[in-house]
Amino acid sequence: MKVAIAGGTGTFGRALAARLRDLGHDIAIGSRDESRAQERAAVLGVSGGTNESVVRDADLVVLAVQSSAAIDTARELADAIGETPVLCVASDLRFTDAGVVPARSSGSVAEDVAALVCGPVVSGLQAIPATHLALPDPPDQDALVCGDDPEAKELVLELADHLVAGRALDAGPLANARALEDMTAVIIHVNRRYRAVAGLRLTGIE
Ligand SMILES: NC(=O)c1ccc[n+]([C@@H]2O[C@H](COP(=O)([O-])OP(=O)(O)OC[C@H]3O[C@@H](n4cnc5c(N)ncnc54)[C@H](OP(=O)(O)O)[C@@H]3O)[C@@H](O)[C@H]2O)c1
Repeated sequence: MKVAIAGGTGTFGRALAARLRDLGHDIAIGSRDESRAQERAAVLGVSGGTNESVVRDADLVVLAVQSSAAIDTARELADAIGETPVLCVASDLRFTDAGVVPARSSGSVAEDVAALVCGPVVSGLQAIPATHLALPDPPDQDALVCGDDPEAKELVLELADHLVAGRALDAGPLANARALEDMTAVIIHVNRRYRAVAGLRLTGIE
């Protein structure tokens, strides 16, 4: 599959690119700065270019820019993305003295992105730390994925199934991105509190 990772120069994008490269996918990482993308792509052994150029001919676009820039970037890239499915991995979080909390009181980044692009939006992978994605063994957790378009969701579920040691699970319609994004605050808080690298595993599913 041809996967374009907008913001693929970042921590998460590079870890995802390396993992998907090893799985045999055709990967292009994007950046606002073409030369930065090309430098980092060369290290990874994948292609690189501007965000706009890499998303143009992809089968799947992963929106992996800094979360605070996800919505503006989706708006800027909407024409170039066209009808291509988009995977949104962003969570809007606030780091407070009391702990890590969701920054939003309603909706989700993924739903806002879906209002801007023409293609279907799928949300997932928020709670999988880049540091774990980059290790040789896949992280011991499930990957929860939600979206309104069955085909796009299936595409991402197939991909996600190879990224984790657990299962890739259909977590329902895109509205459930609110829960996935907010749950990331809980996971990151727990990780900081216990100096751990906890992840999600649902019980009771055969
Ligand atoms: N880090 C993790 O463990 C992890 C785990 C799961 C999900 N995620 C999600 O993955 C996404 C990326 O996280 P990250 O940790 O990789 O972030 P990051 O390294 O801070 O940033 C990723 C890339 O975003 C681009 N960027 C930064 N500011 C921007 C702006 N104002 N406009 C457009 N692009 C901008 C930069 O690329 P250029 O400067 O090259 O354009 C940067 O390399 C986030 O949504 C995050 O929530 C992260």
